[in-house]
Amino acid sequence: MRFAGIQGLHDYPDGFFWPSAAPPDMVFPELKMKQKKKIAVVPGDGIGKEVIAAALRVIRAVKAPVEMTEFDWSADRYLKDGTTVPADGFATLSRDFDTILLGALGDPRVPTNIHAKEILLGMRFKMDLYANVRPVKLLDASLCPLKGVEPKDVDFTIIRENTEGLYCDVGGVFKQGTAEEVAVQEDVNTRKGVERIIRYAFDYARNHELKKVLMSDKSNVLTYAHGLWQRVFKEVAAEKVHASIEASHMYVDALCLQMVRDPRQFQVIVTNNMFGDIITDLAAALQGGLGMAASGNIHPGRTSMFEPVHGSAPPLAGKNVANPMGAILTAAMMLKHLGLSAEAEKIEAAVLEAVRLKKTTADVGGGLGTKECAEWVANKVS
Ligand code: NAD
Ligand code: IPM
Ligand code: MN
Repeated sequence: MRFAGIQGLHDYPDGFFWPSAAPPDMVFPELKMKQKKKIAVVPGDGIGKEVIAAALRVIRAVKAPVEMTEFDWSADRYLKDGTTVPADGFATLSRDFDTILLGALGDPRVPTNIHAKEILLGMRFKMDLYANVRPVKLLDASLCPLKGVEPKDVDFTIIRENTEGLYCDVGGVFKQGTAEEVAVQEDVNTRKGVERIIRYAFDYARNHELKKVLMSDKSNVLTYAHGLWQRVFKEVAAEKVHASIEASHMYVDALCLQMVRDPRQFQVIVTNNMFGDIITDLAAALQGGLGMAASGNIHPGRTSMFEPVHGSAPPLAGKNVANPMGAILTAAMMLKHLGLSAEAEKIEAAVLEAVRLKKTTADVGGGLGTKECAEWVANKVS
């Protein structure tokens, strides 16, 4: 309520705000360009803390004009005072920050995973970050488990729907703990949600001068839910503005086979939330493992969140062995999103060189620790 009518912010029933399409500060774009970008940093749990420390070291070394504020939302905080997200948490992020950099959430001391659900899925759902953009880029042939595959052969992007599907928490259990127990989890697909992610994929292809968009579903079985995906995809693909883009389809099981058999054929893949989660781990393997994979959770024009694809990897935590490259490449992706392309490209070039020279952690063939690897990249960009 505080800002309604003053800064063009709509208010929502849960006390959560976001900017209208044209916030008043856009009147002075030249002024805004000179301001430092504001980044909220949520390191989270386990190796999230270590890889985010590494990414921050590199962001500082490249002298990106940003101001970073750390938030302690994590298992530690939850176990200390029961807080997952403070009352005005998402409103603060939307109102006061340009982007969010997140590590990972998940801790064996919180078996319900409630904090991860409320923090990570809370950000995606409540901030309506509907496009989960996960680039799949092989930096060096030595990192790919496939024979004879070069960097030019693995270079595509998976666009994962991020606010619907099986992740909606619609369902329930009945007669729990008995022999007649029933468990239901609904797959929610809306016309609005499906259409905007498919449009995002076509726009992404056009903006990156790419020619192919592939939609993946399981419409041969999930005839209602994925029938909607089929109809919307065909409609959007048929629009004149998309005439130069080759639109194709693959069932998700066949897609898994093809991603391993011949990853060269893909440019942009768009799919639902659940399948997107699964195929991006498979795709990460093509790049050298989860330690190499970056992502952005985006709603164009709003505060978006960037995170490596991997989780908190509890067995690796606190050992200085986690690969920080996924987080460092995520930082570069975020800087590019903020309009800081020169800084982003410097970081990407340094990571590429580190990978080629094996100045990396053991999972990708090097002999460095997390900190030492970050230090090498930081020195390269400074
Ligand atoms: P994970 O991504 O943490 O680990 C999967 C495998 O990849 C493990 O073998 C791990 O050692 C390896 N790995 C991951 N990141 C690595 C890195 N940076 N360097 C080297 N190796 C790396 O997934 P998991 O084990 O299924 O889940 C662990 C916890 O993380 C769970 O609580 C899960 O819910 C959570 N999780 C969180 C996120 C997130 O916050 N975005 C993502 C995935 C999983
Ligand atoms: C991811 C993760 C999350 C997901 C979990 C931790 C909720 O696996 O970002 O890929 O399923 O989306
Ligand atoms: Mn995942």
